[in-house]
This record gives sequence, structure tokens and C-alpha cells, in this order.
Amino acid sequence: MINPSAKTGTDRERIHAAQQMMTAFFVLAKTARVYETGNDSYRSQLTRFYNLFLKYMDDYHSCTVKVATDRLFVDEQFVNIDNDERIGVRQMVDRWQELGIGGIVFGDSITTEHITILIRLLSSFSLSAGDPCEQFNNRLAEEGVDSIVVLAEEIIDPDQLVEIEERQRMRQEARQTFFRAVTTVKDMMSAATKQEAISVARTKRVIHTIIDQISDDASALMELASIKDFDDYTYAHSVNVSIYSLALGFRIGLSRMELSELGFAALFHDIGKVKLPYDLVAKPGRFDEFDWTQMRNHPVLGAMTIGKSMKLDSHVARAMTTAYEHHINPDRTGYPTRGELRPLDIFSQIVTITDCFDALTSGRVYIKEPIPPAEVLRKLMYQMTVKFDAFLLKLFVGIIGIYPVGSMVLLTDNSIGIVSRTNQAEPGRPEIRVIADRNGPHDPPRWCDLADTAGRAIDIIRTVDPKKYNIDVTRYILSD
Ligand SMILES: [Fe+2]
Ligand SMILES: [Fe+2]
Repeated sequence: MINPSAKTGTDRERIHAAQQMMTAFFVLAKTARVYETGNDSYRSQLTRFYNLFLKYMDDYHSCTVKVATDRLFVDEQFVNIDNDERIGVRQMVDRWQELGIGGIVFGDSITTEHITILIRLLSSFSLSAGDPCEQFNNRLAEEGVDSIVVLAEEIIDPDQLVEIEERQRMRQEARQTFFRAVTTVKDMMSAATKQEAISVARTKRVIHTIIDQISDDASALMELASIKDFDDYTYAHSVNVSIYSLALGFRIGLSRMELSELGFAALFHDIGKVKLPYDLVAKPGRFDEFDWTQMRNHPVLGAMTIGKSMKLDSHVARAMTTAYEHHINPDRTGYPTRGELRPLDIFSQIVTITDCFDALTSGRVYIKEPIPPAEVLRKLMYQMTVKFDAFLLKLFVGIIGIYPVGSMVLLTDNSIGIVSRTNQAEPGRPEIRVIADRNGPHDPPRWCDLADTAGRAIDIIRTVDPKKYNIDVTRYILSD
């Protein structure tokens, strides 16, 4: 189980640790240019870097620093040094390029003396003819440094670097947005429980951020929505339904204003549940008939709660309608049953689909066991025309894809990956993060687009159950 506010990705912590460590390294190199190695200032910077390095090694067991086209990577993660030490990075990159060095592998038996030798050689070593890295490594060995190895410059396509950075930035932004939305829902539900006013403006701001991100690329948010093991799933469910609904809203070409209303309505679709006994909503076992009688009141309670706690505008009106209608179903087999047979609002029909999908894949709402996404889609398709609008459902199945984002797949090269982005044009060729192959785990995972030239050599065999392999998919989704 995960507490979203406490744990938002070990790799983010890793990047932060690498940032601190490398900043200390640049300060140390700068200090070495001014002071002798016996000077107190130098010794104190050396100790600072060394301690951060030891801590990093202790936590992550490897430390490879690479530079490529002015950018710094630690263990293949882009590390943005954006403070005063930026000039230090620039100088270091220039100097490494001069020496033909593309990276340094720091071993775990490194000592402070080794670091001092490295710092001295990096600033004073002069090359003669021959392989520059070999010369540098030979010199390190001559000086008794066996725990540091320099690597040759890698020829990296600058576009590929931009892609890595861009992907990392989008994933971080998506996580921020997602958890901000979860907190907003939590606060709104708490306000509704206490009969306090709900801030419509704050909710709209969250929805607009989600819309901006989905219009850029929905995959990072869809991946977060695929996580179902949050501690308090009730809030995440509302955010998931909002994300799925907006993805579908984009597909049918809704305007920005309509998307804003749809996302807002989806976020509040279950707010009526705050008026039900907590023990019922969180009941671990199956519902009996009395439980269901109470639960069937949540759409009416939801519409009333929204009406009472928010200042009426078009968003609020659509949210009231959606909360009231999202369990009615086109064939009127759902609830509430009162009222005339007027057509259901399209937002309600969208939320009916996305709500069912999220509830069934989570195993946390109504049913107690999660069902794999692909099987849920089959179930929904089976009930098409009866419980769902056929056109909307087909579009939604297309969005989720045959290999839904967040699912684990076995590949023909015997590796295992997690689907990170669906491919609308070729559903069988999504983008994948390969987390392990026959030689063991990839840490960090390797990105593989099955639709690009290299990826076409590999096919998906089938989806696999992460539990069988004892793999925590959530950890990978919450990392970069
Ligand atoms: Fe509901
Ligand atoms: Fe729901």
C-alpha cells in the first residue's frame, strides 16, 4: 500500500541525492583550484563530497557520472544542476571533452586520497598521442587508484538526450499534478463532510493543469491512473475517473470549456459517498442487500451535496447532473430509478464508462478483487449497448489499448517490460520500459519503443501478472 504524500518515487530521491553529491564535487574541484590539498577549506569540502558519495553508494550501489552535450547524467539519470555550480558543470564538461573523457565510474573502495588524485589529474593531466582514456586510466593505476575508471566519450544523439530530459520533466510534472489533484479531492470531500463550502476555483485550476498535460501527452497521467494500491484509494479513484474521462473527452473533440466542465464533474461524481457511513464505504467484505440500498443513494446525495456546497455556475450544474446520472445506465437498469426518461447527459455517459473501468481494475470499489484491464475492457464490451454508449465505449477501448499503460508484458527476447505509452496507430507496438531480461534486472529500466527501428525486432508475447514475478509495478511508475 502506498501513501501518495509520503512516497512519490525513489528515483526522484536518487536524482536529488545525485544533485547534492555532484554539486559538492564541483565545489571541491573549485576549491582545489584555489587552495592546497592540505588546507582546511579543501579538507572540509573533500569530507563533504566523500560523505555524500558514501551515502549515495550505500543507497544505490553504483555511481557512474557521464557528460554528454553539456548535460550531466548520474547512473543514466539526467541531473540538472541549476544553482551557482552551473558554471562548474560547464567547466568540467569542457575539461572532460579536452581529455576525451565521457564519464567516470566511482567504485565502492574509493578513498579521500583517490578523490584528491582524481581532482588533481582532471585539472593538470596532459595528453600525449594515443587513446586518451587509456592514458588517463594508466595514470590513475600508476598512482595507486584502482577504484576509479574513466570512460570514453559516448556519441549520443542530441535529440535522444532532449527526449530523455523531456520525458523525465513530463513525468515529474504529471506526478505533481496527480498528487495535487488527490489532495484537492481529499480537502473537498472533507469540506463536504463538515458542510463547509467547496472551492470551485481551486478545483478548476487542478483540472486545467490536467487538461494541459493530457493535451501534451496523456501517457504519464494514464500511467499514474493505473496505480490502484494507494492507501486511500477513494480520492485517487476520483482523480483517475477524471483523467480517463478527459482522455475520452479529447478524443471526441470537446472544447476546452467542455473539457474543463467534464474533468470537474468527473472529479465530484462520487462525492455523495461522504454522506454515507464510513464503515459502509470502506467495508472490506461483500455488500449485502441493506448495504446496497444505502449505497444506491450516493448519486442523489452527490447532486445535493454539490448544490449545497458550491456556488452555482455551468461547471457546478454539469457536476450535479453527472453525480446524479452516472449509475443510471442507458437501459435504465441502474439507479436512481425515479424521474422521467430524458436522455442522459453525455458527461454522465462518459463517467459511467470510466468509473466502471477504474472500479473493476482496482478491486477497491464494490468488487473486492482487481480484474486485469484487458479483461475489464472485454467485460465492458460484452455489456455494450445495454449499460454503455457503444460509440463512447469503442473509443475508450481504443484509448486504453490492447496492452494498457501500466501492464506488464513478456517480450520475444525474453525480457519483461511495463507498458508506458500506448500506440494508437499500431496497438501491438506500445512504448515499454524494460525492467529485466535473462541477465537480471535493469536498474534504471531501459526505454524501448516497439514501433521504432530497433524495437521492431521485438514483439510482445503476452501480458503477465506482476504478482507472479513478485514485481512492484507501482515503484517503476513512480520513478523516472
Ligand atoms: Fe458512483
Ligand atoms: Fe465512482
